[in-house]
Amino acid sequence: MIPISADFPLSRLRRTRQTPAIRGLVRENTLTVDDLIWPIFVREGEGVKEPVASMPGVNRLSVDLIVEAAQEAADLGIPAICLFPYTDVALKTADCAEAWNPDNLSNRATRAIKASVPNIAVMTDVALDPYNIDGHDGFVVDGEIVNDETTEALVKQALSQAEAGVDIIGPSDMMDGRIGAIRRALEDAGHKNVLLLSYAAKYASAFYGPFRDAVGASGALKGDKTTYQMDPANSDEALRLVARDLSEGADMVMIKPGLPYLDICRRVKDAFGAPTYAYQVSGEYAMIMGAAQNGWIDGDKAMFESLMAFKRAGCDGILTYFAPAVARKLRGR
Ligand code: PBG
Repeated sequence: MIPISADFPLSRLRRTRQTPAIRGLVRENTLTVDDLIWPIFVREGEGVKEPVASMPGVNRLSVDLIVEAAQEAADLGIPAICLFPYTDVALKTADCAEAWNPDNLSNRATRAIKASVPNIAVMTDVALDPYNIDGHDGFVVDGEIVNDETTEALVKQALSQAEAGVDIIGPSDMMDGRIGAIRRALEDAGHKNVLLLSYAAKYASAFYGPFRDAVGASGALKGDKTTYQMDPANSDEALRLVARDLSEGADMVMIKPGLPYLDICRRVKDAFGAPTYAYQVSGEYAMIMGAAQNGWIDGDKAMFESLMAFKRAGCDGILTYFAPAVARKLRGR
């Protein structure tokens, strides 16, 4: 597209910016409640609401309160919530067996939400890190994060989540071949309508810090995730990963983190035209909230501006801890 306009003063580009009405007429992108997926942290207990220190306004909730949060989200029209379990250290092992326990925290939360709030879509995370004594997304053998053995375990984890009734499975582990393996296993087990939202282009990022506190993985993690998560210097590689995951049966793809990787969002959307999501991760949330709490920026405006950026970059939706706050504002509540 080649934008054509007359020379000044015949063309005055400020004409389309002069009033809210005119700006509304020419606005290219919109943010709606339909664009939001709300990530929430689940913990054991009853009536427990435990603040996450590095994520102001975010809490770990026991299953009963997760159900209330899901109801609140559904009332606001938020289409989906994404569950992340805070796993007791006693349940973290080298074989990660808790990951496919039908009665683990994540599966119990899924069943409870599905029983009470059937119309909200439930998304879950596939990766071993909440259950791994080493804090990694895959099995660690002699210091190596092993791929194929991990994929077999991820398949078991995904099947247990499908059995519990999730709508969307989000493999966030970055192992090779896991989308195809999970998709085939879901088909074989009759879960043919379960969606796979692949964390296809997930970078080894410093912006996950507060999340690792929230799920209790910071202490456990030995080393870093650079042998499986992407190098922040790469962009073409993201396209190869997305192409691979779509060809293995992913329904939707994700870029993660969000704002520092908007160029990747745009390239992926333009190249594949697939449903494309960004994860505005914990560190992005913490930066905005931290600055807002210090009075250094207007938190609400920064929240809206950051989320609009994802729409402008071509994303169909955003996983964001701001989901309930932004939905309330959009609904005028
Ligand atoms: C783990 C996982 C991570 C996040 C989502 N799933 C952290 C990691 O890879 O270490 C990060 C989300 C966030 O920072 O908000 N598989």
